[in-house]
Amino acid sequence: MEVKLTVNGQPVQRAVAPTQLLVTLLREDLGLTGTHQGCDTAQCGACTVLVDGVAMKSCNMLALQADGAAVTTIEGLAAADGTLHPMQRAFGEQHGLQCGFCTPGMVMRAVAMAAEDVPAEPQAVRHALAGNICRCTGYGGIVAAVCQGLHEMRSAA
Ligand code: FES
Ligand code: FES
Repeated sequence: MEVKLTVNGQPVQRAVAPTQLLVTLLREDLGLTGTHQGCDTAQCGACTVLVDGVAMKSCNMLALQADGAAVTTIEGLAAADGTLHPMQRAFGEQHGLQCGFCTPGMVMRAVAMAAEDVPAEPQAVRHALAGNICRCTGYGGIVAAVCQGLHEMRSAA
């Protein structure tokens, strides 16, 4: 079956099996390996991408379900000149990562929070991050980074 979508602003047209997952389309067909696979059971959030601006676990979604959608992966966040997205910069400044495995999913989930009106304060951010698991950081730096990133995104809007 054929799927047509945009990925990071680029049109994509591919033949996919009815059972193919979106994460496989992104990683294996398009080479966008910044989207990580940590569990394949919709628990860890490492595979989170934006689908029409909504944070989705791409291991829990068929490629065909993204037909006609605009998908953004971590590779699509920075500006064309390499300037990092405010949320990416905040993760660096607040030490929101260690090994980095969970980071793309954390950042994509955090970017989506801006449109969900999640307050830029720790308790609300921790609640909104409940579907993303980190095995390294203890979450303190991640929560601080998301608060900073949300604040900067809203200040710039
Ligand atoms: Fe998708 Fe873990 S790989 S939630
Ligand atoms: Fe290592 Fe989160 S930084 S899993």
